[in-house]
Amino acid sequence: ASKITIAIDGFSSTGKSTVAKQLAKELGYIYVDTGAMYRTVALYALQNGFAKDGEVEEEKLIQDLSKIQIDFKYNNQLGFSEVYLNGVNVETKIREMEVSSYVSKVASISAVRQKLVALQQEMGKSKGIVMDGRDIGTVVFPNAELKLFMNASAKTRAQRRFDELQAKGNTEVSYDEVYENVVERDTLDTTRADSPLEMAKDAIEIDNSNLSREEQFDKILSLVKAKL
Ligand code: C5P
Repeated sequence: ASKITIAIDGFSSTGKSTVAKQLAKELGYIYVDTGAMYRTVALYALQNGFAKDGEVEEEKLIQDLSKIQIDFKYNNQLGFSEVYLNGVNVETKIREMEVSSYVSKVASISAVRQKLVALQQEMGKSKGIVMDGRDIGTVVFPNAELKLFMNASAKTRAQRRFDELQAKGNTEVSYDEVYENVVERDTLDTTRADSPLEMAKDAIEIDNSNLSREEQFDKILSLVKAKL
């Protein structure tokens, strides 16, 4: 069968990455989490003092962009890829609240987007890829054969992210803080000037507030099979 490109966009914590990983496994495709790439740049900004007191020093970060090397390496034990910043595994660090609180500001910088979009397009040039993010169907792969747009209520999404953090032993964060971060990122992501989060005209919307993981996966898999 021919290989296709699958673009999955949507608001934060809509379960994009869970579906994307499952799909990639099922199809033998590469999975790329583009949120992890923006988070890695935000982590670099934090580590170098360019992100502090709620602000990001754009010029300094832009000057340093060529020093930021982002790689994905497949972890056989875990069964998925982990992200590396200049050779260091940062997969756990990039999920922390401190990174979450700066990432949307970092992602609004055009020079950052240009660098990451170019990398993403390179990774997908042979197709056979499932990529999730905010602008995959609109900017990165406007010609993707299948575009999905995932949605769920902010409450549902905050609860999921909160449960995820708790499960990882991150117990000092409250549900309210997580909810506020989800809502704040929604606003920043949909209102930024460069590549705001929006549904591509030819995307299929999936609201999973009331769908189980299995129901959702079956639904999506049948959409994929119709394209193969
Ligand atoms: O997907 P995740 O929630 O980890 O993404 C973190 C942040 O990175 C988003 O809130 C958004 O600001 C940014 N992002 C983006 N474009 C993408 C992926 C993520 O702007 N393609």
